[in-house]
Amino acid sequence: MTDTGKKEKTAVYPGTFDPITYGHIDIIKRASNIFNNVIVAVADDREKNPIFTIEERVSFIKNVIKESNKDHVKIDSFSGLLVDYLKEKNAHIIIRGLRVFTDFDREFAYASMNKKLFPNIETVILMTSEKFSFISSSLIKEVATLGGCIKDYVPEEVIKALKEKLQKKK
Ligand code: COA
Repeated sequence: MTDTGKKEKTAVYPGTFDPITYGHIDIIKRASNIFNNVIVAVADDREKNPIFTIEERVSFIKNVIKESNKDHVKIDSFSGLLVDYLKEKNAHIIIRGLRVFTDFDREFAYASMNKKLFPNIETVILMTSEKFSFISSSLIKEVATLGGCIKDYVPEEVIKALKEKLQKKK
């Protein structure tokens, strides 16, 4: 344990982050108050057909973290199994955010499968703040596509980039 009571452990917060929202940022900040090292791991998941490239998604998160002065939060990307990435980083903790009750089934399945694949890991679930409990990256993209206001849910840089992407798609 350190003076602050935090254990010297690395926690990995995985996701597609297409794009990062204030809901994710809230989870990152809270995880960074608990753990000495937090890695935000952006999944290079082509199946989800992300609108932003892996480089763009990583860059948005880097810019957000730079502003918050949190040196113990690192941003990275990974492909393949999450547990293999954890092994590579010598990490044993996965952070997940739980928004609503319907997230529970998926999180339970993820946590159980990840533990089967790598028994040494623990999944730590943080309850999403109420004000972000209903948002998801897809919902943000849908609202932006239809011209709705998303300023309460994503950083300014993301709004601009989304507008540009959507213009190009037209
Ligand atoms: N605030 C706002 N939105 C949130 C949120 C929060 N706190 N937590 C989750 N969400 C949103 C996400 O943006 C995502 O939205 P989308 O589906 O519209 O893109 C949705 O809720 C689901 O989130 P999540 O379950 O974290 O999905 P994801 O696609 O972001 O991440 C991985 C899933 C990458 C963690 C998972 O697929 C994975 O581990 N992949 C690696 C391969 C692997 O190991 N597979 C076996 C797993 S057992």
